[in-house]
Amino acid sequence: MSQRDSGYERKERDLYETPEWVTLALAPHLYEATFQVWEPACGSGKMVRALEKLGLTVFGSDIETGNDFFDRSCDPTEFDAIITNPPYVAASEFIVHALDQNVTTVAMLLRTDFDHAKSRQHLFQDSRFAKKVVLTRRIKWFEDSKGQPSFNHAWFIWESGHVGPPTLAYGPAHVGDAPKP
Ligand SMILES: C[S@@+](CC[C@H](N)C(=O)[O-])C[C@H]1O[C@@H](n2cnc3c(N)ncnc32)[C@H](O)[C@@H]1O
Repeated sequence: MSQRDSGYERKERDLYETPEWVTLALAPHLYEATFQVWEPACGSGKMVRALEKLGLTVFGSDIETGNDFFDRSCDPTEFDAIITNPPYVAASEFIVHALDQNVTTVAMLLRTDFDHAKSRQHLFQDSRFAKKVVLTRRIKWFEDSKGQPSFNHAWFIWESGHVGPPTLAYGPAHVGDAPKP
């Protein structure tokens, strides 16, 4: 997602790399039969590597390397889940397109108030919307950033077999997973 961060210009194409602890915080909330993941906006592959650490097989692609997520000819053939930190300017479109793939799980890292907007309610009234995992630490997008991060984030998860209202959780589950506040 696009971030304001003191002293930094907004990066071209929203290339903000997700720190490993953020991806690992998703692990306890993934459907247990998730094995093959498509990370369709992988940038340098930081999230891909964190997902691989969880034992998942991950196909990473990015528009920078010629794979536009909205171009069907680039789709991998087999995957159970689509997991990414989408570019902020196209986050809603990424979610709609991911849900169109008939995949078991879609997990998107977004600003925590992403679900507040009236214009996005169709995404959250979708019966597959299963869980919001609020991150209790702010993400520092740049290791050498001098300022404090301004935004809170959450994982938003859609599951194809989900029944009932969405649930709320907080992560990371273990204090050791995240940097100290
Ligand atoms: C916020 S970065 C996320 C990088 C990576 N997922 C991570 O979390 O470390 C967003 C990425 O989306 C990519 N991107 C933007 N539009 C895209 C599109 N239409 N299809 C595929 N990738 C796209 C950018 O090149 C950038 O690498």
